[in-house]
Amino acid sequence: MGESIVLLIQAPRRAALEAEGWVVVARSFGAQLDSNSINVERLQAMVAQAEGTVREITDTDVDAVLHLDAATVEDYPGSAATQHAALDRRAATPSASRRAFGAFVPDAELVAMTFVDIDGADAETQFTVVHRAWRGRGLSVAVKAASVLALTAEGVTRFRTGGSADNAAILRANDALGYVRDEEWVTLVPNGR
Ligand SMILES: CC(C)(COP(=O)(O)OP(=O)(O)OC[C@H]1O[C@@H](n2cnc3c(N)ncnc32)[C@H](O)[C@@H]1OP(=O)(O)O)[C@@H](O)C(=O)NCCC(=O)NCCS
Repeated sequence: MGESIVLLIQAPRRAALEAEGWVVVARSFGAQLDSNSINVERLQAMVAQAEGTVREITDTDVDAVLHLDAATVEDYPGSAATQHAALDRRAATPSASRRAFGAFVPDAELVAMTFVDIDGADAETQFTVVHRAWRGRGLSVAVKAASVLALTAEGVTRFRTGGSADNAAILRANDALGYVRDEEWVTLVPNGR
């Protein structure tokens, strides 16, 4: 990928770059959900309506995580700000600071997953993805809801997430979970590149 700069939409530097010929090629967002504004029953219903089993991903699931990641790595819209790098075995392995939740359909295949970085009482979604054949059935909200419920119970109080502002499905999923958008970012590139 060529040169690019990601800035908050209202950053003073943006006007100077645009005057020099830089152009906005993508928009992205940040959003937050606080544990005290979570609707637990609603999140539980999102998990309950999912086909298959929604549960935490463990280190015995790493092959399935790598398989789903390889099948979906090209599917993330946006630019430098929202890119997803293919997972290696280490990145696909959950840990205390890197938790993951998934949906497994009856033949035990992993079809949806969300990975969340934990830092004290703060959680930040790293990525959420659903197998192409299983999209539009509420699985992204189910795995995200499962992560919020489990981590809230362990003392996480602040959840952050983000992504491409052109990604209607993830925007709607986050709205349904109760996230409030509070940041907008632009990706600029030099004109003509
Ligand atoms: C984004 C993604 C995870 C959504 O997963 P999904 O399981 O299909 O989404 P859900 O079925 O849970 O639907 C979530 C919401 O988005 C809506 N939605 C689903 N697909 C949509 C689409 N293509 N366009 C617009 N809205 C859509 C649903 O109606 C639902 O909204 P609602 O609750 O208001 O009805 C999935 O499309 C995907 O894996 N994309 C590639 C990876 C990616 O972009 N990840 C997000 C950035 S990390």
